[in-house]
Amino acid sequence: MIADLVIDNAIVVTHEAAFPASVAIHEGKILAVGAKDSMPAARETLDAAGLHLMPGAIDVHVHFRDPGYPNKEDWASGTAAAAFGGVTTVFDMPNTIPPTANAQILADKHAIASAKAYVDYGLYGLLGENTIEHVPDLVAGGVIGFKLYMGNTFGAIPSPSTGAMLEAFEVVAPTGKRVSLHAETNSIMERRQERLTQAGRTDALAHLAARPAVVAVEAVARAAILAEWTGARIHVLHISSAAELKPLADAKARGVDITGETCPQYLFLSADDYGRLGGIIRVNPPVREAENQQPIWDALQSGLIDMIATDHAPHTPEEKTRANIWSVDCGFPGVETQRPAMLTEVAKGRASLTDYVRWSSFNPARAWGLLPHKGVIQPGADADIALVDLSARWSVDDAKIQSRSRISPWHGRDMCGLPIHTLVRGRFAMKHRTLVEETRGWGRSVHAIQAMPEPQPLHTDQTMQAVLQAPAGAGAR
Ligand code: DOR
Ligand code: ZN
Repeated sequence: MIADLVIDNAIVVTHEAAFPASVAIHEGKILAVGAKDSMPAARETLDAAGLHLMPGAIDVHVHFRDPGYPNKEDWASGTAAAAFGGVTTVFDMPNTIPPTANAQILADKHAIASAKAYVDYGLYGLLGENTIEHVPDLVAGGVIGFKLYMGNTFGAIPSPSTGAMLEAFEVVAPTGKRVSLHAETNSIMERRQERLTQAGRTDALAHLAARPAVVAVEAVARAAILAEWTGARIHVLHISSAAELKPLADAKARGVDITGETCPQYLFLSADDYGRLGGIIRVNPPVREAENQQPIWDALQSGLIDMIATDHAPHTPEEKTRANIWSVDCGFPGVETQRPAMLTEVAKGRASLTDYVRWSSFNPARAWGLLPHKGVIQPGADADIALVDLSARWSVDDAKIQSRSRISPWHGRDMCGLPIHTLVRGRFAMKHRTLVEETRGWGRSVHAIQAMPEPQPLHTDQTMQAVLQAPAGAGAR
């Protein structure tokens, strides 16, 4: 057989080991990993001397804004940013216009994404007070999972009551899909923001004051109780505080199928940066006091937090620099800088390369049932590959990033490590730091891959659906 591509002289990094090897690729899949002289003949060879070859990152939390906000981002610019960051799969959030809340809207978004994407993707369906009835159609239409907003954020999607959440979990549990949670309790935040506004606070730190860590503690604990009751699988998005690690650990100890992610902003930024960055740092959940950082690192190391995602949330410079903090849009881009930022910490000895691959590729693939196709470098897997120069030193320049949002707290940050080539199912999406235009539209939805253990719904005799009809012998009339 003649392979399509053989990559020679790389150091291959998996979630378990780093070793020198060549990698052969054929028809989008990894054909062989091994010694150079054991490789098949190939149509094309790439000499990767000096580069590390890792599974592409799977960023399970991005906002690509399409359809709805072309001034902020679209599927082409967002996935180009992913390719430049060595990210080969992204899961896109449903707070687009219209929100991804029924089968038709989902089909429209699939059409847009498949026409423009440079990398593979999953689409989240919106799980809200009024979308529960659409769950079966959304699953049939191809969602990677569901997003439920327990707290309000950009897009003003109403947060469902606890009653609606229970019913939503009851309906999703038997499908086996994971429910990703924006775990901040809305009523606490709304009340505090109103009082802070009345008191005349418009400074950047007022945003943190409106959302103390207890909003996350309460939300994670409550969601875990409902997941434990219903057997629904859940995922805690953007873990920002040390305090919410306790309900997460408790839930894991009780056997709840719960995973968690943190984001670079909670590892690298702190309350000390609000003065310097003003509204640019505004994000939900907020960047918190510096003492939260080490416990979050420790939780990544221990496996309590499963993965790194970015919450890539692009906005325009005008939207990020308004004087009154309450009118600044929340979030900033990150899909392109996550890998370099984390590898910079690896270079400092804070984590190992295999830790990083576990957090950014292997564990996300495992949590969403994408193994053994994604997140691994082994024969039979999709050839989703980041080739990275770990010695490249550079600083982030917002003017030069691929994302349409040219404003972020990462501007000027020194990095050690740069993706040089990115392959998605065997095709270069980014080569020698240049976008490969022909790869536009090559990205595909990964929802069909899913290989998850059988769902285990619980208390099925007490679900809303089960109790709506009176059983025989239920008493009068
Ligand atoms: O800061 C945020 N921005 N947090 C979110 O959860 C949503 C995101 C957005 O869509 O802009
Ligand atoms: Zn988000």
